[in-house]
Amino acid sequence: MNARTAAVGVRRQLAEAGVPDAGFEAEILVREAAGLTRAQFFSNACLEPRNAEVLQGLTARRAAREPLAYLLGRREFYGIDFAVRPDVLIPRPETELLVDVALAELRKAPHSVVADIGTGSGCVAATIAAHAPDATVIATDRSARAIAIATRNFASIGVRVSAVRCDLAETLRHAAIVVANLPYIPGGEIAELEPEVRDWEPRSALDGGADGLELVRRLIDDCGTRLRPRLLALEVMAGQAGDVVSYATRTGAGTETHRDLAGVERVVTARWA
Ligand SMILES: C[S@@+](CC[C@H](N)C(=O)[O-])C[C@H]1O[C@@H](n2cnc3c(N)ncnc32)[C@H](O)[C@@H]1O
Repeated sequence: MNARTAAVGVRRQLAEAGVPDAGFEAEILVREAAGLTRAQFFSNACLEPRNAEVLQGLTARRAAREPLAYLLGRREFYGIDFAVRPDVLIPRPETELLVDVALAELRKAPHSVVADIGTGSGCVAATIAAHAPDATVIATDRSARAIAIATRNFASIGVRVSAVRCDLAETLRHAAIVVANLPYIPGGEIAELEPEVRDWEPRSALDGGADGLELVRRLIDDCGTRLRPRLLALEVMAGQAGDVVSYATRTGAGTETHRDLAGVERVVTARWA
């Protein structure tokens, strides 16, 4: 069967299952099943019977709202491909701002120690290490599976990052820059999320407690009282920046907020004198 004809059928099945952007995803699934480049897809390539079987499986999984990134086993972040599995959060484009904030700080002191707390796939730590080769980068996560996936990503991308399994930053003795995209969704709101997130991404990567900020407050406390980094940068969700700024200010920090491309106050930074 012609690849583009196959994509029309896949698009219909995905649309019926409520998948947003069904046409785009149908093309990706057909190309993945048959190993086609975009150019080959558009030049009337044909699917072998075994490709059609693989496509059927991928389509059924996507129609069950399994995220595309888990089906493909990868997601691009800051121009780098990361292996992802359902044990880790799928990297989001808005998190690239956290990397930008860290890299701007590193330009002032390139040899700094940077800690990425709650590293998941390792996307933040690896990207910082790739763009700031003089920095010493450490990544932590409480999940052993996340640490295993992050460690594989660091090796395949070719960056030197030490991965440590621990609670927040508890094993660290020093870090000049601390970055974190911690779970920040209020527990009671998780049931309302789209199925791709609610049913497939790890709850331990989403649930930030009653108001979403339990882990964020713990990390601010640890940084303010013990680690005292030069900069703490925290990703937050829309509407949380004000509360995080107030909390950090009460610990004696000076704060700033940074907006993402959608205009949302997405990263809060804190510095202690
Ligand atoms: C929102 S995900 C972010 C993953 C990755 N940094 C990213 O931006 O894609 C949060 C991560 O924090 C980890 N985590 C949750 N609680 C933690 C804790 N107490 N200490 C360390 N890591 C934790 C989760 O396992 C998950 O990998």
